[in-house]
Amino acid sequence: MRPILKSLFAAALALTTLPAFADDIADGKKVYMTKSCMACHGMKGAKPVLSYPMLAGQNEKYLLQQLKDIKAGKRLGTVDPANNAPYVQGMVDIMHLVDENDLKKVAKYLASLPPGAPKPVDPPHDPALVEAGEKAFNSLGCKSCHGVEGKKPTAKNYPFIAGLNAEYLARAMTEMRDKVRVNGQSKLMFGTIKKAKDEDITAIAAWLSQIDRSAE
Ligand code: HEC
Ligand code: HEC
Repeated sequence: MRPILKSLFAAALALTTLPAFADDIADGKKVYMTKSCMACHGMKGAKPVLSYPMLAGQNEKYLLQQLKDIKAGKRLGTVDPANNAPYVQGMVDIMHLVDENDLKKVAKYLASLPPGAPKPVDPPHDPALVEAGEKAFNSLGCKSCHGVEGKKPTAKNYPFIAGLNAEYLARAMTEMRDKVRVNGQSKLMFGTIKKAKDEDITAIAAWLSQIDRSAE
């Protein structure tokens, strides 16, 4: 094809595909605002309540996999002592409101958002604990999949883990180490996380939780 034709062709293609992408994001936002997601995960997925995970700026493929698994009842977890139900139960209960198409769009929307800053904790994490967490993360080999400081996952379907709530991070790691959370690609974690002691998990969670992805 002659260069001029080629670029006209590319421009025409961009015109037909770009609005569809923007529409998906707008539709995904509608899902997020109307299907109760916001009540638990906060404005723009960046201000979750309690110990719930931040979703803004997470990898789209990871989000979609988890959403499908949660809808199908495949993501199991530990029980929240506050109400004696699994932490994930509140989500399971509303998943009848969304279909697979909604999930695709909401994942696209959430992945398009800038990550939020970590929620300040009072009192702040003990600096010695934070330092021990960084050491454990580096020596256990977490970096090979989650990247430097947990903010550069090495595959599109691996999660960002920097800046999430410390309690959530510790829970997720413990659930995978103890093979309670076995859905999705959690198997990839098993070999590494089984080497982490409870103290390592607490320290890694404290360290990761105060890394600010919004600053970049
Ligand atoms: C009642 C509160 C509640 C509602 C409503 C809710 N969620 Fe959640 N969500 C949670 C909790 C709690 C978890 C973590 C569960 C766990 O610890 O295993 C979670 C986990 C997730 C995850 C996995 C995150 C990760 O890092 O693995 C995604 C994605 C998600 N929610 C998206 C949504 C979307 C989209 C909606 C609306 C359709 C929604 N949630 C509605 C409470 C809620
Ligand atoms: C071989 C690759 C690999 C290694 C090494 C690895 N992870 Fe993971 N990790 C993953 C994948 C893939 C997932 C998503 C699992 C799923 O699909 O449910 C994950 C999930 C997580 C989650 C949960 C994220 C969320 O939003 O719920 C945390 C926390 C985590 N990893 C921390 C660690 C830590 C800490 C280490 C080192 C001790 C580690 N990982 C080592 C691949 C890896």
